[in-house]
Amino acid sequence: MRGRVNFNTKKVVLGGIKDYINEIRRCRRLILIACGTSYHSAVATRQLLEELSELPVMVELASDFLDRSTPVFRDDVCIFISQSGETADTILALRYCKQRGALIVGFTNTVGSSISRESHCGVHINAGPEIGVASTKAYTSQFLALVLFGLVLSEDSISKQSRREDIIDGLQKLPELIKEVLTCDQKIRDFAENLYQKSSLLVMGRGFNFATCLEGALKVKELTYMHSEGILAGELKHGPLAMVDDTMPIVMIIMDDPVKTKCMNAYSQVQARGGQPVLICNNDDEELIKLARRYIAVPRTVDCLQGILCVVPMQLLSFHIAVLRGYDVDCPRNLAKSVTVA
Ligand code: F6R
Repeated sequence: MRGRVNFNTKKVVLGGIKDYINEIRRCRRLILIACGTSYHSAVATRQLLEELSELPVMVELASDFLDRSTPVFRDDVCIFISQSGETADTILALRYCKQRGALIVGFTNTVGSSISRESHCGVHINAGPEIGVASTKAYTSQFLALVLFGLVLSEDSISKQSRREDIIDGLQKLPELIKEVLTCDQKIRDFAENLYQKSSLLVMGRGFNFATCLEGALKVKELTYMHSEGILAGELKHGPLAMVDDTMPIVMIIMDDPVKTKCMNAYSQVQARGGQPVLICNNDDEELIKLARRYIAVPRTVDCLQGILCVVPMQLLSFHIAVLRGYDVDCPRNLAKSVTVA
């Protein structure tokens, strides 16, 4: 955020795209394309981008996007998100869209990478070098960069002014709040002690935190080699509920936000089948804390930024489970930091 967000004037400047903003605002739709964790950052910010830009926003896995030969037009804006800037599927999707005349915007963490060179314009994620194979700070920084993008797109909208100001105030407080989340480390380690010998972990949530579930489950899979699934709580009764019993480890993310009531319904359904989820909830949600047997409480922020705080306990949980299982958290088996083959 440094050098990009002025917290006094509530202005956001993204130098790499400022000459293209009008063209982006006039587009037919935004298409966010990426792989893995980078894809999850797109899922995490889609709702906010729709709200702030009032444009249709598609979110695509690069490999699937190419398999479908998806129609792309000159008035589309295609956004490619990549930590390394060298992921083969993402680069191939970029070239596919460029050939069809779309505007190409790159969000990468690597200055001079293929994606940053082949884009018309872009935003550097500026997370610093990420050494561990599993992406963590790149995820939160990609999330943040996409939020800034939404703020820039909605700069001229009077009706969005107060929402924008709330988000910018929320951004200012984020570093302190992340430090607060990190103080839960010991409690999270204790949960890991209970979980590390299990064979599966379900992570459930919805709304702004569906992406947190997908990303949390991916971290568990990559680092601990345990089966884990991110489940949209709204889909529970369409299948996944069959897996729930009193032996199935479950984490549920229930924030005090517009989908809380729906999440609470899912919580009741899980409990009715004997499930005893660990909740990730707001630290001032006394009603829920009273109900929960086991919980990790995170501070409250603006709904659309809450996912940045909620993913940290999931990152720590996977870290501790992996350490307890005796695995190398920096270099998980079968994975490479940069996937340069399609
Ligand atoms: C997971 C992870 C991968 C990458 C994916 C895309 O922790 O790191 O899922 O996110 O391979 O890589 P980038 O972002 O470099 O395009």
